[in-house]
Amino acid sequence: EDIQQKAYEINRKFLDQVKFFDFMTEEQRDNIANVLITLKFKQGEIIVNEGDMANSFYIIQKGIVEVTKQGQFLRYMNQGDSFGEQALFGNCVRGATVKANDQDVNLLSLSREDITTILGEKIQLIVNHLYKYAEMGI
Ligand code: CMP
Repeated sequence: EDIQQKAYEINRKFLDQVKFFDFMTEEQRDNIANVLITLKFKQGEIIVNEGDMANSFYIIQKGIVEVTKQGQFLRYMNQGDSFGEQALFGNCVRGATVKANDQDVNLLSLSREDITTILGEKIQLIVNHLYKYAEMGI
């Protein structure tokens, strides 16, 4: 069986467990799984830097990351958590620094361009969803 097909199926299944994608249709999740890029980080490596321009959104597939702001610890995040949502708003900068806090951190990354293409006019939905998500403090 094709390796790429297998990777697609693993990522596609994983998306069903990501809280952030709850609001999407099956078809939208199929499309998201098609454009995901897998990234790997080692302990201590910086994934996003506070103040940098934001173009990518991330989902943690494996490992733990640490979030800091102005050098102060904010929280840890792990499998199924997502971060980097400033990328979804356009011309925004990162509000915090996110660093790998585990020997092996695997992330699935999505560009703003791909997300907006997939959601089309429904992009407003994601913005509403983000506010709800923030209120729940997830
Ligand atoms: P973004 O600003 O794009 O990049 C840094 C990310 O850290 C941010 O998106 C959030 O996804 C994540 N994060 C998690 N907790 C916090 C928090 N308390 N304040 C700011 N960012 C946070």
